[in-house]
Amino acid sequence: MAVETKLLMNYEHEFFERYSTLCRYRRTTFYEEQQWRLKNTFQDFSFCKDTAISVLAIGSGDGTKDVYIIDALAKKVDFVDYVVVEPSESEIQKFKTIESSKQDRGEWKNVRLTYHQMALEEFLGKPWQDKENYFDIIIAIHCAYFISNPGQIFHDLYKILKKGGTLFNTMSVDAWEKILQEAEKHHSCRTISSYGSMELRQKLGQTMPNVNMKILRRKNGIGVDECFREESKDGNDILDFILQIVDVRKNIPEEIVDKLLIYLREKCCHSVDGKLYFDADDEDIIIVKE
Ligand SMILES: C[S@@+](CC[C@H](N)C(=O)[O-])C[C@H]1O[C@@H](n2cnc3c(N)ncnc32)[C@H](O)[C@@H]1O
Repeated sequence: MAVETKLLMNYEHEFFERYSTLCRYRRTTFYEEQQWRLKNTFQDFSFCKDTAISVLAIGSGDGTKDVYIIDALAKKVDFVDYVVVEPSESEIQKFKTIESSKQDRGEWKNVRLTYHQMALEEFLGKPWQDKENYFDIIIAIHCAYFISNPGQIFHDLYKILKKGGTLFNTMSVDAWEKILQEAEKHHSCRTISSYGSMELRQKLGQTMPNVNMKILRRKNGIGVDECFREESKDGNDILDFILQIVDVRKNIPEEIVDKLLIYLREKCCHSVDGKLYFDADDEDIIIVKE
């Protein structure tokens, strides 16, 4: 029987609380992830030939990952215009704190950050965004799940990308998509608008079939042993974030939670040194505007 669920994305405090717990259980740190991405996905920004570049960063959260991107760009070009679109006020405040300390240390003298506290859908509807060919780089890391109608929105993002510019999108792939689809069988509505990279790629195939697209995959794991301990706060936070539901254990009948935990363990995990890791592999989609 389908049951009603509270979607995590509608509860800002709970969303970021659970996200930060989940991040503590990752096999790789943000630093390692971004070093990998700088080298492989962004190619150390060797394609940046202009002296000034404009970047649109979508769903940056607290900016922890953006720091590595901005550091690399600030060393590469004379001026970086970095436009952040992020709906959470509290996350933007944290990003601004990072910016202040970088400015105090004189590290981002050639960087101008502009913050738009709003959803991407609203930002794209703003008049000044009517101009096409505006951004050299567009970056969306783990946020396209929450954007309504991502197929159409990415089509619109492509329009505001300059000719020769690049759009980078990161999303989870495979296991996360599988468990969300499995969970969807048991409750009445979708938790998020796109379950992962595979689904986004299908949507892009319909809305922008002829674009130049490259795919890179990166292994990742999230420790999930705690999810199997009913009384574990961390385990319940991680389970909530994986399923994108608030208080899974309170809101979903026990027999369904048990089924989903078995599915998690048997179909979506690997073990290392006796510890169980959720196969939270990422896929980077790189779209170059020709
Ligand atoms: C899982 S977090 C990822 C944060 C960061 N990019 C990272 O990888 O750690 C998803 C982010 O997308 C943001 N977000 C949610 N809906 C959005 C929307 N409609 N437009 C832009 N950003 C959105 C959330 O506020 C959150 O900061």
